[in-house]
Amino acid sequence: MTAQPAKKLLVLPGDGIGPEVMREVGRIITWLEEKRGLSFEITEDLVGGASLAEYGEPIRDEVIEKARAADAVLFGSVGDPRWNHVGFEKRPELAILKLRQELALFANLRPAKVFDALVDASTLKPDVVRGLDIMIVRETVGGIYFGNPRGIETLPDGSKRGINTEVYTTSEIERVARVAFDLARKRSGRVCSVEKCNVMESGLLWKEVVTDLHTREYQDVELSHMLADNCAMQLVRNPRQFDVIVTGNLFGDLLSDLASMLTGSLGMLPSATLGAPGANGKTPALYEPIHGSAPDIAGQGIANPIAQILSFAMLLRYSFDLQEEGQLIEDAVSNVLASGLRTADIMSEGMARVGTSVMGEAIVRELDKFQK
Ligand code: NAD
Ligand code: IPM
Ligand code: MN
Repeated sequence: MTAQPAKKLLVLPGDGIGPEVMREVGRIITWLEEKRGLSFEITEDLVGGASLAEYGEPIRDEVIEKARAADAVLFGSVGDPRWNHVGFEKRPELAILKLRQELALFANLRPAKVFDALVDASTLKPDVVRGLDIMIVRETVGGIYFGNPRGIETLPDGSKRGINTEVYTTSEIERVARVAFDLARKRSGRVCSVEKCNVMESGLLWKEVVTDLHTREYQDVELSHMLADNCAMQLVRNPRQFDVIVTGNLFGDLLSDLASMLTGSLGMLPSATLGAPGANGKTPALYEPIHGSAPDIAGQGIANPIAQILSFAMLLRYSFDLQEEGQLIEDAVSNVLASGLRTADIMSEGMARVGTSVMGEAIVRELDKFQK
């Protein structure tokens, strides 16, 4: 048997709870190396406020190049109120926005899956969320986040005008819709495309392009369309009606935070952001929880590490086709939750409240049980 080349990971913990939850992934990486014979070559670097403190900018070009060279990027979270004074052009959040843009990571997969043990953790009724398994595919390099014109201008009377522009082209819509249709084929075969074609031309084009692509190539998948405001309501009313949701950058951001509460907490929802396969056959990919740096709880050791850990499980599955190891991690998380351990954000009566590192340790101990 020839030795597998080491898997090259760029790890970017970032700010706030980012480094705290990333530490718990570190334990799992060590476990995989020791117990499953996998080999990772890990480079770590600074992004966000942490990079501003050291280098005066939210992300260095050098880090973008390291991300390009890696097999996969594991990202924590960025954002730190202590850097509010640096101005919009230097804000910590630019780190993740630049990485998405520079690596053309256009398809952000945000799965909202309810673990049986957490059915009661959602603020919705158990009957509404039990068994929920949906996938939100959010476009991440276009739309109003990046459209021009943008800026703040001063009007002749001295007052100001803030401008952002929602822009989508045919090819931008088509490539993300293709990801959604392909995923649906491996799931329950249904895609719901979400926009506001009743108000926005970009939404009208979105709907047309998705419909055309469906007619041409994906008639085996069931396609429906929904206005974004209705989708927000339907996600709370009856989330299990959905399988795959495909939508633009801003709507996807909002709807996925909403969907996270169906699973019990923002601290539970992982994501994978993928680009198009390059000439070398490698698909650029970045994995991150959908939550932010949570400055309100940072430094207390109480953050839920599960979204970060499940993002790493997605990394194993999508970037290295390590389905078995991905499944082991997801099963370990599920068993630990079933045993009654809870971080504060998913705590409920009768359960045992633990901090970040005890939760991480318990997941590794559970992995040990599978490996006998
Ligand atoms: P947030 O996601 O950081 O936190 C929202 C709420 O959820 C907070 O009450 C927080 O304590 C809680 N929460 C989040 N993750 C948790 C976890 N793992 N365990 C337990 N509780 C958790 O959103 P915010 O407060 O609006 O933003 C804070 C900063 O993070 C901002 O600077 C924002 O721009 C940034 N942000 C970054 C990313 C990213 O890096 N990808 C994502 C979202 C927000
Ligand atoms: C997310 C975050 C980011 C976004 C911010 C930090 C730029 O909210 O990943 O969901 O809006 O995309
Ligand atoms: Mn967000």
